[in-house]
Amino acid sequence: MALSGKVALVTGAAQGLGKGFSGILLKNGAKVALLDIDETVGKSAKADFDKEYGKDCTTFLTCDVTSDEQLKDAFQKTIERFGRIDIVSNNAGTVNEIYWKKMIEINLNAVIRGTFLALQHMKKDTGGEGGVIVNTASMAGLGPVRNSPVYTATKHGVVGFTRAVALASGLSGYGVRVNALCPGLVKTPLIDNLTNEMYGRFAHLSHFTDELKAGIIEVPVVAEKFLQLVTDESNNGAVMKITGDGATYMNFKDVLKNPLP
Ligand SMILES: NC(=O)c1ccc[n+]([C@@H]2O[C@H](COP(=O)([O-])OP(=O)(O)OC[C@H]3O[C@@H](n4cnc5c(N)ncnc54)[C@H](O)[C@@H]3O)[C@@H](O)[C@H]2O)c1
Repeated sequence: MALSGKVALVTGAAQGLGKGFSGILLKNGAKVALLDIDETVGKSAKADFDKEYGKDCTTFLTCDVTSDEQLKDAFQKTIERFGRIDIVSNNAGTVNEIYWKKMIEINLNAVIRGTFLALQHMKKDTGGEGGVIVNTASMAGLGPVRNSPVYTATKHGVVGFTRAVALASGLSGYGVRVNALCPGLVKTPLIDNLTNEMYGRFAHLSHFTDELKAGIIEVPVVAEKFLQLVTDESNNGAVMKITGDGATYMNFKDVLKNPLP
């Protein structure tokens, strides 16, 4: 998939991974709608991109992904501004085991909301032109994180949802691929601002995250792999694990061939 002339919508785009994904899409010729709940940091990200790519390549939209209305409105505004949507990155996320219901809203429910809106806009059977969705999961979507059981649940949810909806999209002839990205620990503001308290009742186990910091990954490394999931048209239902040693596709192939009825 060539990105020149394509339009992307990225949630949680103000900083961290979302900013990295937006940057690599812009570098490869796409236009990007930058969505984030944090207006100050979001506008600053847009100003950074303006300097490199010009003002017309991005738009910043203040949006809380947990709101049906705000996310729907942001999709609509992206279409009004750029005329189409081809790529959606459901990336906004948080770690907070104290406000765990809110975390489920952001990390899982909003990914489902964003995927359904993306399908609605891009699927071929209702006049769309097809496209690709990349959902940001985590290594916590592939195995247990000892101090963060609810975060683990949300990311397992993203992986399972992505694989199932990818099959459903394929079987329905939507022309929309859906993939998931599972990075290990990445150097972003999320990790820089983690406090022991955020682990709630398991704050005494916070040192397990500190131990992982030795192998922390840089954002551009993950952004390159994100780009692969966007552009490689042979990927649908792909779940890519990224560690300091590189990226591998999880081998779910047999399950994909024989899905449950
Ligand atoms: N950093 C890591 O180690 C790591 C590893 C694996 C997966 N992830 C996942 O990657 C994604 C991005 O994480 P990051 O590390 O870049 O985090 P970050 O905190 O650096 O950036 C996340 C962005 O999402 C925005 N956001 C939060 N809640 C929102 C909401 N309700 N509506 C809209 N925007 C909202 C924040 O304002 C922020 O700009 C998350 O889904 C996270 O779970 C992160």
